[in-house]
Amino acid sequence: MALRKLVAGNWKMNGNRAALDELDGIAAAAASVDIDVAICPPFTLIAPAVAKAGALPIGGQDCHASAKGAHTGCISAAMLNEAGATLVIVGHSERRADQHETDAEVRAKAEAAIAAGLIAIVCVGETESERDAGRALAVVEGQLDGSIPPAGEGKTLVVAYEPVWAIGTGRTPSVADVAEMHAAIRVRLTTILGERGAGVRILYGGSVKPDNAAELLSVPDVDGALVGGASLTAALFVPIVEAAAAIG
Ligand code: 13P
Repeated sequence: MALRKLVAGNWKMNGNRAALDELDGIAAAAASVDIDVAICPPFTLIAPAVAKAGALPIGGQDCHASAKGAHTGCISAAMLNEAGATLVIVGHSERRADQHETDAEVRAKAEAAIAAGLIAIVCVGETESERDAGRALAVVEGQLDGSIPPAGEGKTLVVAYEPVWAIGTGRTPSVADVAEMHAAIRVRLTTILGERGAGVRILYGGSVKPDNAAELLSVPDVDGALVGGASLTAALFVPIVEAAAAIG
């Protein structure tokens, strides 16, 4: 089943008010294609991004699992929603590494996001040493078992496969490796979610650029892309959006 593609940009800890000018070109491109497009800027830029982006969905890069409380520096899913966000990335490998987030925490965040009316993008992916040891599939399947909310479905849940060693490195897995992993993720989602697993989009992330987007997005069960560095400018992001739209 071909799912509607989603190309989401993760600005990470990059961007400022001036960078929001990039949203003009991105929103215009998004409005002219028949796929979903979104940008996830830093928290402080969400509200101004929503004000500037028109119909382009804006998302957060993390949320807390609790609705409110004594959690200095954290943001709840409801707060993101109130700021105008419609989606949120949870369990990015940088947060799993830097903030020591566990699968159980990621699942709780995803459940909180969905309860607050947001689409949760749950990230999974193996490290280079795990792949070298032949454990990539087992690692990702374990992350899915622990991180996927059991009530998730296509309208509320997206999975992003991001091999850690491909993030920000310019390196990407082979098409065969992407195909193998995405097929395995689809099977696992169906095990966890039953029939609903067929409707959950599986994004590929890790050094997606204009020159490799069409190849990666053509792989079966690659239902879109989660783009880091190349989402910071319309000049690099729009060609990726157009590549995804051309594949449909
Ligand atoms: P890059 O596209 O910069 O490799 O980042 C990928 C990523 O981590 C998106 O969440």
